[in-house]
Amino acid sequence: MDRRIESLQRRCAADHRVISLGGGLPAPVLFPRRALAAAAARVLRRADDAALQYGWPEGGAELRGYIAAGLRARGVSDVSAEDVVITSGAQQAVAIAVEVLATPGARAWVEPESYPGALDILRARGVALVAGPDAPRARLAYAMPALSNPRGRVAGASARAALLTRARRDETYLVEDEAYADLCFAGPPGAPLLACARERVLLVGTFSKVLCPGLRVGWLVAPRALREEILEAKRIRDLQANGLAQWVLQDFLAHRPLARRLAHARRFYAARAAVLCDALRRELPEWRFDPPEGGFSVWLEGPEPGDDAALLEAAVAHGVGFDPGRLFVFDGAPRTLSMRVSYSLEPAERLEAGVSRLARAWRVFRRSARAA
Ligand SMILES: Cc1ncc(COP(=O)(O)O)c(C=O)c1O
Repeated sequence: MDRRIESLQRRCAADHRVISLGGGLPAPVLFPRRALAAAAARVLRRADDAALQYGWPEGGAELRGYIAAGLRARGVSDVSAEDVVITSGAQQAVAIAVEVLATPGARAWVEPESYPGALDILRARGVALVAGPDAPRARLAYAMPALSNPRGRVAGASARAALLTRARRDETYLVEDEAYADLCFAGPPGAPLLACARERVLLVGTFSKVLCPGLRVGWLVAPRALREEILEAKRIRDLQANGLAQWVLQDFLAHRPLARRLAHARRFYAARAAVLCDALRRELPEWRFDPPEGGFSVWLEGPEPGDDAALLEAAVAHGVGFDPGRLFVFDGAPRTLSMRVSYSLEPAERLEAGVSRLARAWRVFRRSARAA
């Protein structure tokens, strides 16, 4: 990551006076502290050692079965616990998928704005990033059709069809990142693209957004032909995902159906999104955005080109942080000033105050940019 931006982000995170509209972190009030503590106590009291002993790289069978059952309920008929690999978060699932699919120099198709963590993995692997409908044939595509980051939008029928065409016609593997799928405001997600192209899609999921990222438990479901390579990549990286976290999660899920928690989380984040969007319309009318359909954030585009890192510097001086657009743009060169602002972490009154500060910083930044 850009050092200047990282040091500004670290300053925001360390100073509670700075209102954080960056980062895209889940709301701590939703962390299931008591239920996780009870699950951890039950797991540690048990006579068997599975939670504390080494395990296999694919992860615990019960948790894998839970994830497979969730996918079958969403229309993926041909999936079982055997197809699921538990990973250290979705981030590792993407990294393993990229490692297995692409050698340096290969091409990877991405959405014009994408998740920076995935872009970093692809760049570190030495692949060439391409985007847009006319991009040349690529070895793999990385997309978030269920709910995109940073835009917080659900892919429509034609975008989904285009991804499937690319997968089938060009024999491109699709890494389908569903990190936010359960946080669509309209309700539970429909069938993933995995249901339509079982041999071409590698599906990525995580408990980070709906429970807590500290668990570091995610998953990867891949075509059977790639399973051995994927398990080998997992074994080489870290032998297995955190066993204690897996067993605590397993116990937690057995005692607490997730559906009610998800319904609450959707309403909670939708309410925060509405507050943020109202504030943005009021305070930053020159900035365009599509209201999010879920997730944690809004993608904003400004009226003119400019240095988004300098705007962040001005914003931090006014007591507010955000994520500069260049982090999300596949070629790192935004056409216009852009930013991701998140509503997930801060309560309503701080969201409103944060947008007011951002608007003041924007006016100061614009005046000095015009004077220069
Ligand atoms: C789209 C997307 N994929 C993956 C991740 C990584 O999630 P995890 O915490 O499970 O590694 C994130 C985290 O922000 C994300 O936004």
